[in-house]
Amino acid sequence: MTTKTDRLIALVDKHSAHNYHPLPVAIARAKGPFVWDVEGKRFFDFLSAYSAINQGHNHPKIVAAAKKQLGKVALTSRAFHNELLGPFLELLCHVTGKERALPMNSGAEAVETAIKAMRLWGYRRKGVAENKAEIIVCAQNFHGRTTTIVGFSSDNDSREGFGPATPGFKMIPYGDAAALERAITQNTVGFLFEPIQGEAGVIIPPEGWLAAVREICSESRVLMCADEIQTGLGRTGMMFACDHEEVVPDLYILGKALSGGLYPVSAVCADDEVLGLFTPGTHGSTFGGSPMACAIGMAALKVILDEKLPQKAAKTGAYLKALLETLEHPLLKDVRGRGLMLALEFKTRVRPLVEDLLKRGLLAKDTHANTIRLAPPLTLTEAQAKEAFAIIKKAVAAFPA
Ligand SMILES: Cc1ncc(COP(=O)(O)O)c(C=O)c1O
Repeated sequence: MTTKTDRLIALVDKHSAHNYHPLPVAIARAKGPFVWDVEGKRFFDFLSAYSAINQGHNHPKIVAAAKKQLGKVALTSRAFHNELLGPFLELLCHVTGKERALPMNSGAEAVETAIKAMRLWGYRRKGVAENKAEIIVCAQNFHGRTTTIVGFSSDNDSREGFGPATPGFKMIPYGDAAALERAITQNTVGFLFEPIQGEAGVIIPPEGWLAAVREICSESRVLMCADEIQTGLGRTGMMFACDHEEVVPDLYILGKALSGGLYPVSAVCADDEVLGLFTPGTHGSTFGGSPMACAIGMAALKVILDEKLPQKAAKTGAYLKALLETLEHPLLKDVRGRGLMLALEFKTRVRPLVEDLLKRGLLAKDTHANTIRLAPPLTLTEAQAKEAFAIIKKAVAAFPA
């Protein structure tokens, strides 16, 4: 018998580009850490839209802020001022400790904005000769899908077929401070990195690396640019993943949870020395900083602060990680993570395990064939973590060795 799910999946297969390999589930509604599919079945959401739903699905305060704004004014464009842009940016600067913030929509757009900001700083402030600016990036990076960004990806699927690559990027191994030091030249304007590599499989750099990067960048007059789109806003158990080593980068790139999942909201946050260099006409976005985005972004940030979501992620994350560490399976290679950015790495492909978890009521996704990322909303309670773990335990026990 064909189900409603089958029919919906067939429709997408027929009409969409096949640029994703989604799990066979069609979601109809969501609340907190749960989603329900079109057949009415409930699932734990342990992907949280790649960490965009840190506040939980449909957080009542963010929904209320969006509803309040709907029907008032949604979009003005930056051609005019609006009632909410200033207050939103003020709050964002308060959270990041930076002097300025530049709002965009998607994460990739914010990364592009940071690249432009670093190059501009290189030409206007560091004195790099025009068109010579270099940015250093890491192997196995994931910063988004624009042509420039995929051009400096080490992942063949992301890069191949989309060249020619934008020049001006140099790649070094992740977590290697000496390699960074060696790669820097007089033309280096920035170092773009993820404090934990999410898409690469929740790769945590060696202890002390972030602090070493800070020191090297400061000494060499290179901007340290942390892509905290996935790790930021509480996910790893602190507001930013850089906080784990008490490191403050020159630029933060934020997205995803900056809207709690209700609307695409992203931003680059930095001091006047960097973001003060943009002048009218040098950068922009029709929707970036819209009243709707600001209303939602402000509510999303307030929920993170008011509900102490970073602290909650640290506590629930430690609890869940301890449970995961009790798992036994001959092919289980590693249990790792920080806060509620956790992962199970196996010595084999985990897609069958992910599909079994789906059948048992938990949605998670494989990142790079052998690793399952476990990233529930940060509002997950310990009782819910325990219930979810029982599902994971049964699925792992049934996973063929
Ligand atoms: C670290 C990081 N940077 C950038 C992006 C791109 O964000 P978006 O998909 O909103 O363009 C992602 C998305 O997964 C990410 O994890």
